[in-house]
Amino acid sequence: MTEAREAILLVGGKGTRLRPLTVHTPKPMVPAAGVPFLTHQLARARAAGVEHIVLATSYLAEVFEPYFGDGSSLGLSIEYVTEDEPLGTGGAIRNVASRLTSGPDEPVIVFNGDILTGLDIRALVAAHATSGADVSLHLTRVEDPRAFGLVPTDDTGRVTAFLEKPQTPEEIVTDQINAGAYVFRRSVVDTIPAGRPVSVERETFPGLLASGAHLQGMVDSTYWLDLGTPQAFVRGSADLVLGRAPSPAVPGRCGDRLVLPTASVAADAKLSGGTVVGEGAVIGEGARITGSTVLDGAVVEPGAVVTDSLIGAGARIGSRSVLTGAVIGDGAHVGADNELRDGIRIWCGAVLPDASVRFSSDQ
Ligand code: GTP
Repeated sequence: MTEAREAILLVGGKGTRLRPLTVHTPKPMVPAAGVPFLTHQLARARAAGVEHIVLATSYLAEVFEPYFGDGSSLGLSIEYVTEDEPLGTGGAIRNVASRLTSGPDEPVIVFNGDILTGLDIRALVAAHATSGADVSLHLTRVEDPRAFGLVPTDDTGRVTAFLEKPQTPEEIVTDQINAGAYVFRRSVVDTIPAGRPVSVERETFPGLLASGAHLQGMVDSTYWLDLGTPQAFVRGSADLVLGRAPSPAVPGRCGDRLVLPTASVAADAKLSGGTVVGEGAVIGEGARITGSTVLDGAVVEPGAVVTDSLIGAGARIGSRSVLTGAVIGDGAHVGADNELRDGIRIWCGAVLPDASVRFSSDQ
């Protein structure tokens, strides 16, 4: 059996690092390249042969089903399971076990709902079958592994340890990290304790290893980005538009910009670097927008300069304001002639008067 027909998508996290974008919208539903980010993952799973997907929901659970329905528009059969209390990544996997139809030895894929990757899903499933592992993990290599849990493997790819975020240079024994996509032998899902929070990364995987289970790592160093932070989210959306990150769900041709059909962009406005302009958004004369996401109904007034930023749904950016690496919450209003820089987060609905924030002199 080298095809996996079923997958679990973990989409119940609070997405705290992405606030205020996740105040009204769960992270997987924040639009990236014009559609809720989750659409890209669903379409990629479908393209790899998956037919049945169970969404493990918790935070703002009610918004998923009205959008994706039974999944038939994507050629999928989608079910939804909501946790009464968040059960963590492992608890969420266990909580949907009753919805799986695969046999005990068949493969079930599990995806974190916030990873953008070009992973060859079929190759991960094939490697799982060839090695006979209990669980196979997609691993990716990063330059600076200090912020991640490390997953060293032996020369056959078998996982030898799970190491929490390394603190000293001696602790950095590998540059391989858990990339957030797994293939489980179905029967292994049933061994996760039910009814209480469990972390798959901190409890299930180390526990399986300690009990002698076979965990296999597959290093695939294709495009990989954890969209957990605003900067990464904006980067990921731009990379989808530019075609650097592969997805069958980008609504339009890949290129320097993506303007959704009902958006209105002034003739002399400049959009580049994978900028996406959402439905009903308005871009004024002479505005310059680079590598940014402008969500539905937002307005960028004439002469504003927006770089590597995310403008929330219905937000307004005043004339001549300059934004670099900024996140503007839904419905916020940034007056004219403001200068907002790296890492600033303007909360949903906040109002910033004209000329009230600068980082450089106004003279
Ligand atoms: P931060 O709060 O910013 O760390 O984000 P997060 O809540 O999404 O946590 P994290 O990035 O560690 O989660 C990894 C994946 O697991 C994401 O796709 C989450 O949606 C998902 N996830 C995390 N906790 C839970 C949970 O309790 N239940 C479910 N169903 N999914 C979860």
